[in-house]
Amino acid sequence: MNRAAPVPKSNMGRPEPRVDGRLKVTGEARYGSDFAASNPAYAYLVTSAIAKGSIEGMDLADARAVPGVLEIFTHQNTGELKPVKFGGGGGGATSSIQELGPQIKHDGQIVAMVVADTFEAAREAAHRVRVSYKSEPVSATFDAAGVTEEDASKANERAKDLPQAGDADSAYDSADIKLDVEYGTPPQHHNPIELFTTTAAWRDGELTIYEPSQFVYGLKASVAQKLGIEPERVHVVSPYVGGAFGCKAQLSPRTGLVAFAAKKLNRPVKLVATRDQGFTIATYRAETRHRIRIGAQRSGKIDSFSHSGWEVTSRPDPYAVAGVEDSARLYSFGSVKTHVTLVHADRNTPGFMRSPPVVPYIYALESAMDELAISLNMDPVELRRVNDSMQDATGKPWSSRSLMQCYDQAAERFGWAQRSAEPGSMRDGDWLIGWGCASAVYPTHVGAAAARARLTANGEAHVQIAAHEIGTGVRTVVAQMAAERLGIPLSAVTVSVGDSALPPSPVAGGSNQTASCCSVVMKACDAINAHFRTNATVGSAVPGESERLEDKFKRLGVGAIEEYAEFLPPGGKPDTMKKLYGGTPFLGGGSKGDKLMYALGAEFIEVRINARTREIRVPRMVGAFAAGRIMNPRTARSQYLGAMIWGVSSALHEATEIDPRNARYVNDNLADYLVPVNADIADIDIILVPEQDDSVNPVGVKGIGELANVGTAAAVANAVYHATGIRVRELPIRLEKLLIA
Ligand code: MOS
Repeated sequence: MNRAAPVPKSNMGRPEPRVDGRLKVTGEARYGSDFAASNPAYAYLVTSAIAKGSIEGMDLADARAVPGVLEIFTHQNTGELKPVKFGGGGGGATSSIQELGPQIKHDGQIVAMVVADTFEAAREAAHRVRVSYKSEPVSATFDAAGVTEEDASKANERAKDLPQAGDADSAYDSADIKLDVEYGTPPQHHNPIELFTTTAAWRDGELTIYEPSQFVYGLKASVAQKLGIEPERVHVVSPYVGGAFGCKAQLSPRTGLVAFAAKKLNRPVKLVATRDQGFTIATYRAETRHRIRIGAQRSGKIDSFSHSGWEVTSRPDPYAVAGVEDSARLYSFGSVKTHVTLVHADRNTPGFMRSPPVVPYIYALESAMDELAISLNMDPVELRRVNDSMQDATGKPWSSRSLMQCYDQAAERFGWAQRSAEPGSMRDGDWLIGWGCASAVYPTHVGAAAARARLTANGEAHVQIAAHEIGTGVRTVVAQMAAERLGIPLSAVTVSVGDSALPPSPVAGGSNQTASCCSVVMKACDAINAHFRTNATVGSAVPGESERLEDKFKRLGVGAIEEYAEFLPPGGKPDTMKKLYGGTPFLGGGSKGDKLMYALGAEFIEVRINARTREIRVPRMVGAFAAGRIMNPRTARSQYLGAMIWGVSSALHEATEIDPRNARYVNDNLADYLVPVNADIADIDIILVPEQDDSVNPVGVKGIGELANVGTAAAVANAVYHATGIRVRELPIRLEKLLIA
């Protein structure tokens, strides 16, 4: 791979406001359902009222009688739709459960779609569709009769070759200090503000899909497969995504159905699924269980670490996050033993949800580290220091690791030295004060990507890349990168993203987007610069010359230069780019290469718990994060803030409740699905710890979108213990769990 030239420090690293900020706040930015297809028909979904069994009959007479109804799609007239393989990653489908019946595999499975002239007619008719079912007993979650267990390493590629080192069992047996604890995390739903929406329009045999997507090339390829047509005939448009967090990364069962309906009716069809339908027609974060065993010396040095995880999934799909891959590498454990078990229940298939592999697993690890510190009578920060190391138990070295710098800076800002360690010993009137901390960690991914850049003689540049604006500010950092490399002002750069007609970028997941897109855009801009040099070499930086841009163009006798570039990270194969064009992304980095590439952080949290009512407040949080080069501190801070708030949500608020009798989600609306509001969040102090790591990718960027969401829940749980002496090992922590002291 080409080594990158040194990067000038001109444009990058500035806290530029988002280039599309104005469009967003004025409502001019157009999201999936904002596109006006001409004369659209409206679709409304009917979802299953049972979780397991089959459809015995459907009575559609009443529904058809509603004026304006055009067609009702059921399993009886959608047999032409093809199955798409469950992806479990960027490409493919969210689930292999795609048929509308007659078999029912989870509550809320799509069983029919009514299409009418108006939304109101479609909705009314949908409520008049009568389905009779033959129902079977259901297994909703862990411990239910009828669930089946499976070794994740045999069923899912992600869970193969999980880290193992030494003899963790005998090291545990002979350890001075032993900890053997279990933790649990609940199911959660992404609940993006933008609902699951799809508009499909056909013209001369070509299909255009307007849908919020984290991977437009994947959607294009998968929907083509679903319809049995050539991908070249599908165009996906998704310039803005109103919240995704993993749930819009693959083809979900609705999209092919909407496209199919539009074809049959020879008219554009628009679907906006309801909030409650979103709980079952897309993915979610499944509930997990953990058993952690740690054997340590009295000095705090850990000799043995075992982490077993259990994750719920659907009957057919082996979805796994398998975050032991990361928990087992975070510290210098002397020996490591890991295992993950999948538990198949009668549920929709789970999927990626912000910081998917690490969130539940690091909550368990970082709670256990706090429990170990208490057994050792040791400061929890010092316990991390004793076990800090530049290589993991398997002998893999870290590319860079600034964990203790993060701890030191955050501890100082927080005032950690003033903490009195005894639980319940810090108090302010009726309020018990608790201080807790935990590590944040997220793998540094980088993916194959392509881009096109064009510079005109008047000094304006346009960059094209099918990246995804999921809220992270990709247009802004790509524009900053181009402005810097081409030596022009940021205001002279325009960026097109979110369209499958542009060169492909990888799935906007796994926090790879900034690193991948900036790496390829840098390459495209450097190829433009190469034209201006006498001894042109592609890959060279803007030379420090004084010649004016228009004179350079004059010298070359052209009005514009356009370059296309492809970027392949280490581990990429010759056909990786072809696969990316075909909808299969390639992500490298993290723990997969010769070096461990991760962004790290430390979070400190104060809780105040009312001694009488047990009301829990979080008045302040400090997070320090080291993630290589920061392209834009303003958008970076924004990601960290949102992620820490989500962490508080995981700790104290969020859980999807399931009725075990019918395997149905109970609180499938934003009134009953609890998330923090402004009044729940007070001071958040973010520290960007400088770090340079040129080995992770050409731009030296470690992804940050998912980092700060990791560790927050454990930091809150550790603070709650410090305030009350009560260790809650099942999230979320609600006041009823703090009633017995
Ligand atoms: Mo993110 S859950 O990796 O889309």
